[in-house]
Amino acid sequence: MTPPSNIRRIGVLTGGGDCPGLNAVIRAVTKTAILQHGIEVAGIEDGFQGLIDDRIHPMTAKDVAGILVRGGTILGSNNRCNPRRHHVGDDHEGRPVFRDVTDQCVEVAHRHRLDALIVIGGDGTMAAASGLMDKGLNVIGVPKTIDNDIVGTEISFGFLTAVNTATEALDKLHSTADSHHRVMVCELMGRNAGWITLTAGLASGSDVILLPEIPVEMESVAQYINARMCKGPGFAIVAVAEGARLRGGEQIVAHTVAHSPEPTRLGGIGQHVAAAIGRMCGVETRTTVLGHIQRGGTPIPADRILATHFGYHAIQTLMHGGRNRMVVRQNNIFSDVDLLCAAGKQRLVPLDHPLIAAGRAIGISFGDGVPHTHYPEPKPAVVV
Ligand code: F6P
Repeated sequence: MTPPSNIRRIGVLTGGGDCPGLNAVIRAVTKTAILQHGIEVAGIEDGFQGLIDDRIHPMTAKDVAGILVRGGTILGSNNRCNPRRHHVGDDHEGRPVFRDVTDQCVEVAHRHRLDALIVIGGDGTMAAASGLMDKGLNVIGVPKTIDNDIVGTEISFGFLTAVNTATEALDKLHSTADSHHRVMVCELMGRNAGWITLTAGLASGSDVILLPEIPVEMESVAQYINARMCKGPGFAIVAVAEGARLRGGEQIVAHTVAHSPEPTRLGGIGQHVAAAIGRMCGVETRTTVLGHIQRGGTPIPADRILATHFGYHAIQTLMHGGRNRMVVRQNNIFSDVDLLCAAGKQRLVPLDHPLIAAGRAIGISFGDGVPHTHYPEPKPAVVV
């Protein structure tokens, strides 16, 4: 197929945190552009930072051979860079100085004769891209995040691999919980959204699932754990999202990242919940924080396929004349939406989500005191 006369060369970049499947998208974008449409592809290094610094190199189909299964991103990424508010140094009193460098980015893109950018990233990356769109660059977005919280798409690539990793970890914690009659608490990623914890919690048969969307009542959790320890199997697995918080309390912030468009890094609720369970139930409790393991490693097959489909669809969208669109999947069908519909927003777990209802039905506690299945009082032994 001959490319429309206005698309001869495109740039591709990965923004935000790394995520399983990034390389699979880069591969699909590059191969579809070159092999199907005869368009040249340029790789932009380290997200928008590479556009600011003019670190851009040509990519061939050979450059992306073999990367489908690799974790991370061959282009490098950056979750601190927003061209509209770029940190250029500190003033003489040590205060950070920010500058709008969108003109510089557009100039670099023009110098490399880039007719469009394929931007693979999350809500923050889409928001950062808006500055370039305002200056006339055509940006096609591909939704990336393990958190699965991008508005406009029912799924982002990387999520299913993170769920797989989290499920395996929770499965493994069962061994110690069972053998030592302990409560094992596992803190999972996801920022303000509980998708990873809800899905991995259910997949692993966790007993308590604590989500950012449902404020936690420790009395309710303690009551549930006591029942499981005394009348149930005598151990418990608690899956807690890093963004979960106690009712009336705040999320726990692990640290902040200076000059980042999204500076807050959550973490610590796992320790907090474990300590409270130990205190309130008098039971040995341990915490595991799974952290970046959820973002690493090879994407599972479902993510390789999703990422490939998204990458292919991004080029198709461009070739059909799309401008400033984000490719999405809705009701299992691939399409595209206005790129800005995702910018700076989050898709949280709705409280009436069917998985929450199913979890409650099978006796899982969501830590909110909603009645759940209780263990029956043991019947007195019948002596014959
Ligand atoms: O958005 C992906 C994510 O892994 C979140 O789940 C987590 O809160 C955050 O990024 C961690 O960011 P960083 O890699 O900067 O510590």
